[in-house]
Amino acid sequence: MNETFLRACRGEKTDYTPVWIMRQAGRYLPEYLKIREKVDFLTLCKTPLLAAEVTMQPVDILGVDAAILFSDILIPVEPMGIKLEFSETKGPVIHNPVKTSDEIKRLKNINPEKDLSFVIETIKILVGKIKVPLIGFAGAPFTVATYLIEGGTSKNFLHTKKMLYQSLKEFLQLMELITDNTISYLLSQIRAGVHAIQIFDTWAGILTPYDFSKYSLPFVKKIISAIGNSVPVIYFAFNANSMLELIKSSSAEVIGLDWRIEISNAIENLGKDVSIQGNLDPCILFGTDELIRQRVADILKGAEKARGHIFNLGHGILPQTSVEKAIFMVKAVHELSRR
Ligand code: CP3
Repeated sequence: MNETFLRACRGEKTDYTPVWIMRQAGRYLPEYLKIREKVDFLTLCKTPLLAAEVTMQPVDILGVDAAILFSDILIPVEPMGIKLEFSETKGPVIHNPVKTSDEIKRLKNINPEKDLSFVIETIKILVGKIKVPLIGFAGAPFTVATYLIEGGTSKNFLHTKKMLYQSLKEFLQLMELITDNTISYLLSQIRAGVHAIQIFDTWAGILTPYDFSKYSLPFVKKIISAIGNSVPVIYFAFNANSMLELIKSSSAEVIGLDWRIEISNAIENLGKDVSIQGNLDPCILFGTDELIRQRVADILKGAEKARGHIFNLGHGILPQTSVEKAIFMVKAVHELSRR
């Protein structure tokens, strides 16, 4: 297996900078769309042979140095008792959002090996044949909680913040339940064979630093401490660059960055105890080859002082992206970083 990605996570020397792309399996790939013509997104997630196939597509097509399990951060909420749908136009929709104490009490603890056996099976298929490390993942409890409370994506997260500021006891109850479930889910992914874990905290940036430090970060810390040294953990908190010191205190081995910060500044802030992942603006892939190559070079240079650097976009690749541009970026990272 090509271990370059894992070596960079741990801060060991590598021959070149490894690269993968958030949302690398998805709607910008014709091969993915072909499978999606026949099955809806949830069915795809729940069919191990197909989920394994789309997990591997970007490894073969783009030449990336890691694969990420094909699933979604909301997959583990279904067995908690949540009615989940992925709408073509609205994204995830939850038909029974939770707001009251009773609604929270009715949510269930999950048994991942039983309730999410399709995920475990997908991982087992993959680790048998994949030539690059496989990244497992989960949403950060706060990010998952926003979906459960709002019922989907939101603009100002008023329901979530109302619960936080008006019914703290209920909010914490919900966070604890999600955290316990996330720990057992991630530990079962690790037992099945994933080589690293990424925690997606897409909505961390809507919180004040005080609320983030008190009501989101402690739960992420609990997860990272439960994982211990078994596999490297990447913590990606989106739109949260003003809170880098707090994010570092999570004890994650790798900190993921969005594009809103100069990578060299982030490295100065974060120091030498962590590796860095990021942080090309996904929209740069709509520029000329020359522009892409220049911006890749800038990030590689900015990251020279990092303990370890994993190249990635600053958020998920957009469905409108041309596959050729993604391939071009991966090649540019490999060529320009060769040592
Ligand atoms: O390739 C990969 O990165 C692995 C699979 C993956 C998906 N979602 C597949 C997916 C991962 C790691 C996720 C994480 C995820 N899901 C996050 C965190 C990362 C981020 O983008 O901030 C969030 C917030 C979600 C929730 C979610 N799922 C949304 C908001 C949407 C709809 C909007 C969108 O981006 O498509 C989804 C659907 C989804 N998840 C798709 C895929 C491939 C599209 C489904 C389809 O129509 O085929």
